[in-house]
Amino acid sequence: MNKIIDANKTAIFNLSSSKNLAKSVAKTLDIEVSGLELKRFLDGEIYLRLLETVRNKHVFIIHSINSPVNENLMEILILVDALKRASAKEITAIIPYLGYARQDRLSKGREPITSKLVADLLEKAGINRLITFDIHSNQIQGFFNIPTDNIRTLGYLTTAISKAYDLSNAVVLSPDFGSIKRAKVVAKRLGLPIVIVDKRREQQNNVEIDNIIGNLDGKDVLIVDDMIDTGNTLKKTLQLIHEKCNNIYIAATHGVFSLDQTKYQNYDEYFNEFSKIGVKKIFITNSIEQKALSHEILEVLDLSSQIAEVIRLVSGKHGALSDFFNKEWN
Ligand code: R5P
Repeated sequence: MNKIIDANKTAIFNLSSSKNLAKSVAKTLDIEVSGLELKRFLDGEIYLRLLETVRNKHVFIIHSINSPVNENLMEILILVDALKRASAKEITAIIPYLGYARQDRLSKGREPITSKLVADLLEKAGINRLITFDIHSNQIQGFFNIPTDNIRTLGYLTTAISKAYDLSNAVVLSPDFGSIKRAKVVAKRLGLPIVIVDKRREQQNNVEIDNIIGNLDGKDVLIVDDMIDTGNTLKKTLQLIHEKCNNIYIAATHGVFSLDQTKYQNYDEYFNEFSKIGVKKIFITNSIEQKALSHEILEVLDLSSQIAEVIRLVSGKHGALSDFFNKEWN
């Protein structure tokens, strides 16, 4: 039987952050994850060594740059350096969650643009192609001078929600003007009306609603975002509107879930607060591995089939991903 990909020409590596995802992708492709020795010197420096040859191979690294962000960033840079020095033919970095992407422009001045810096670092280290999921903003693709593909999961997430719940009385809520585009795509896809919350931030922690454009009364609500980090953005909006509406569902690609320990002692408290303001389910993907996290409000969708398909296409004869974008999950 023909193998899906040729292990003599292709290798898959993972590092510390996306181990289960990489394992499951490799299993789908009927290939082993390549061996790597990875450890820290006593002062924290990273040491790694490839345990097999990559000479003339197309190497795929599956690794998200999530917390601990700086450790995970250094790990991938160091692996890419080792791969290049070991004569890998091509290096494709599959970074489901690209950390540092949120700092993509100057907002107050005298600040860095870390997403450009990370792009430069990855390129300089030697990646030839980047594949990522729901990048924070489209312009980041332009920070790379190598092929950069951004795979959207909106279709995958919203299909899963509409299969699990009756959305016939739902509206898609855009929690601010910045999210209208994303909300419109989802509303069109599901044939639902859109509601826009026009809010203003009086001070850092004080949000006021000027207007709600559209009808929320008695409706189920679907909110789509690229990520949930502290959860503050969504919680603050929902605190102001949840009494008007019925069930609330949230879909976000990246579950960053940073725990502000001045507010919550543990993740139960963090997620219970979502439940208290009417959230029935939060759908996320495993772009970030939710290691010790399990809460009944969370539904984690697996990206391994998509990533396996990406590797199959990219390592194929033409290396083109165009077929991928015709799949039903887009
Ligand atoms: C903002 O631009 C993003 O799309 C998210 O809404 C934001 O990063 C979420 O952060 P947090 O959960 O910390 O409010």
